[in-house]
Amino acid sequence: MLPLLSIFLLLSLSRQVSASESFIHCLLNHSQPSHPISAAIYTPNIGSFSSVLQAYIRNLRFNTTTTRKPFLIVTALHESHIQAAIVCAQTHNLQIKIRSGGHDYEGVSYVAEVPFFVLDMFNLRSIHIDVESETAWVQAGATLGEVYYRIYEKSNTHGFPAGVCPTVGVGGHFSGGGYGNMMRKYGLSVDNIIDAQLVDVKGRLLNRKSMGEDLFWAIRGGGGASFGVVVSYKIKLVRVPEIVTVFKVAKTLEQNATDIVSKWQHVADKLDENLFIRLILDVVNGTNKENTGRATFFALFLGDSGQLLSVMNKSFPELGLKKSDCNETSWVQSVLFWTNFALGTPNDVLLSRVPQTLTYLKRKSDYVKEPISKAGLELIWKKLIELKYVALTFNPYGGRMSEIPAEAVPFPHRAGNLAKIQYAANWNEGGEEVTDYYINLTRKLYSFMTPFVSKYPREAFFNYKDLDLGINHNGKASYQEGRVYGIKYFKGNFNRLVEIKTKVDPGNFFRNEQSIPTLPNKRK
Ligand SMILES: Cc1cc2nc3c(=O)[nH]c(=O)nc-3n(C[C@H](O)[C@H](O)[C@H](O)COP(=O)(O)OP(=O)(O)OC[C@H]3O[C@@H](n4cnc5c(N)ncnc54)[C@H](O)[C@@H]3O)c2cc1C
Ligand SMILES: *[C@@H]1O[C@H](CO)[C@@H](O)[C@H](O)[C@H]1NC(C)=O
Ligand SMILES: *[C@@H]1O[C@H](CO)[C@@H](O)[C@H](O)[C@H]1NC(C)=O
Ligand SMILES: *[C@@H]1O[C@H](CO)[C@@H](O)[C@H](O)[C@H]1NC(C)=O
Ligand SMILES: *[C@@H]1O[C@H](CO)[C@@H](O)[C@H](O)[C@H]1NC(C)=O
Ligand SMILES: *[C@@H]1O[C@H](CO)[C@@H](O)[C@H](O)[C@H]1NC(C)=O
Ligand SMILES: *[C@@H]1O[C@H](CO)[C@@H](O)[C@H](O)[C@H]1NC(C)=O
Ligand SMILES: *[C@@H]1O[C@H](CO)[C@@H](O)[C@H](O)[C@H]1NC(C)=O
Repeated sequence: MLPLLSIFLLLSLSRQVSASESFIHCLLNHSQPSHPISAAIYTPNIGSFSSVLQAYIRNLRFNTTTTRKPFLIVTALHESHIQAAIVCAQTHNLQIKIRSGGHDYEGVSYVAEVPFFVLDMFNLRSIHIDVESETAWVQAGATLGEVYYRIYEKSNTHGFPAGVCPTVGVGGHFSGGGYGNMMRKYGLSVDNIIDAQLVDVKGRLLNRKSMGEDLFWAIRGGGGASFGVVVSYKIKLVRVPEIVTVFKVAKTLEQNATDIVSKWQHVADKLDENLFIRLILDVVNGTNKENTGRATFFALFLGDSGQLLSVMNKSFPELGLKKSDCNETSWVQSVLFWTNFALGTPNDVLLSRVPQTLTYLKRKSDYVKEPISKAGLELIWKKLIELKYVALTFNPYGGRMSEIPAEAVPFPHRAGNLAKIQYAANWNEGGEEVTDYYINLTRKLYSFMTPFVSKYPREAFFNYKDLDLGINHNGKASYQEGRVYGIKYFKGNFNRLVEIKTKVDPGNFFRNEQSIPTLPNKRK
């Protein structure tokens, strides 16, 4: 005899199944005979459902038994599957979540509070590089590593300015802004996008011309998931020298880290724009086993080591960079170095879709407008040592980032920013209390940092999704709720995003915890 519990489970399962059954019928009915959708449909009763879901979970906080699961996954194999999913989801009033690389810090692409299905884009990942025109078409399901590798196959003097983690997906990364270590020379990924393909709320496959400049503007930083499903982007490749130089130099507090960090703040955004020096502040064991602060200077220079040393000698001699700290290499190898592979690792590790490590994590972000005083830095070190498990990464702005107008694309953080800060806590065990502990640490540090960072609004980077900044409850997307996080992510561009959203998706079908809201209905 079946235990009572199992009977209940079976009953509720069958209810779920019947609810999704008519949706599946609709999908099958909308499928083109030449591209059957049946092979793309995963229901929870299929053995591989969990592994398909888990394959692109990139934050272990959302890989627990209590994490809400979709009732269905559609792993689109063709544009028509995207169109069918959108059309049928609307007739069945269902919540869609769109996932490309799954790197959303808050799991927004595959978790929801309401019943939902996932449209998974990983199969749509073709990349076509055209060196002659210095452009490429890249599908949303491709990873950054695949993009970099395909460029390398065709040219050793081209690259693309995007993120440093090779498993990040194009769909979320490009549509949310996308930055990397060439940002001071070439701007963001979205500053180098020239066309796109998108399936809109009516199920139409549009390109730049047919979607119009407003919608094309919105999906270059405003987040694709508020506006439609991005199928692909056309990007402009950028030129890189055959030889670039990288270095990674660390200084502890005992090695005058504070003085050097202080100087970094005065030069990092003004340096030669071929030079990007990331600064990471964290806590390590000192020589006497006491914790101490460590500042790591992590750099890419688009040139050789001789030129780099002369730039450093002129602008930042305090770091004491020596030729023996530098490695000259190719641009594609510099990508590996920046993601902590040893130089000399075969370039095709960039094709691996499996991240080097997976952890439980929490991220937050801030913008620094003015150098922090040495006294301020001393206080920050004290706090970092007290909290111990949160690191701060400073990414310098300036260069091209200051030249591009704040309203060119939805990403608004341009001139006037010295650096962006990322707060990072990583941990390796589950459980609610452990999770609360680490999330609390990031919140404490964020609160402590208030006097040192941007105000009114306290700005944040949209691709560093942080639900602490506010959410749309149950995806109802109240305009007031959306404005709270929207102004932080988009500043003055928020209003234009809302107008475009209201025009292209007035029913707010494309919604999530931090989507762009529609304008409230005017009173009659
Ligand atoms: C390890 C790691 C390193 C990172 N490094 C960087 C970095 O160097 N620079 C940087 O800028 N960011 C970085 N990020 C942040 C990253 O850019 C964002 O998390 C980005 O949104 C991830 O894109 P994705 O496709 O992998 O994520 P997903 O989780 O699949 O998607 C993220 C968001 O975009 C939406 N979306 C995804 N695909 C589509 C689509 N095809 N159409 C419409 N909407 C879509 C999702 O619904 C979700 O809201 C990093 C993140 C991680 C986890
Ligand atoms: C399938 O499509 C046909 C014609 O397009 C329509 O009449 C029928 O109702 C559809 N069936 C389902 C289950 O959606
Ligand atoms: C995610 O959870 C599943 C089920 O508990 C587990 O088998 C899998 O190993 C987890 N993934 C990772 C990367 O830890
Ligand atoms: C730190 O700075 C002091 C004073 O400026 C100097 O004497 C000392 O040599 C420096 N230490 C290191 C390790 O650079
Ligand atoms: C410092 O060392 C102790 C033991 O030697 C270790 O448990 C601890 O994790 C270390 N701390 C850091 C920040 O590495
Ligand atoms: C730095 O520049 C100064 C003055 O131009 C020069 O004397 C010195 O040798 C240089 N140092 C290095 C390490 O290149
Ligand atoms: C990097 O540079 C250092 C110092 O010049 C050198 O010893 C080392 O071999 C280089 N590493 C690689 C992999 O080239
Ligand atoms: C985290 O912070 C909340 C709110 O301040 C508190 O209630 C909770 O006990 C903290 N949890 C842990 C594990 O520190």
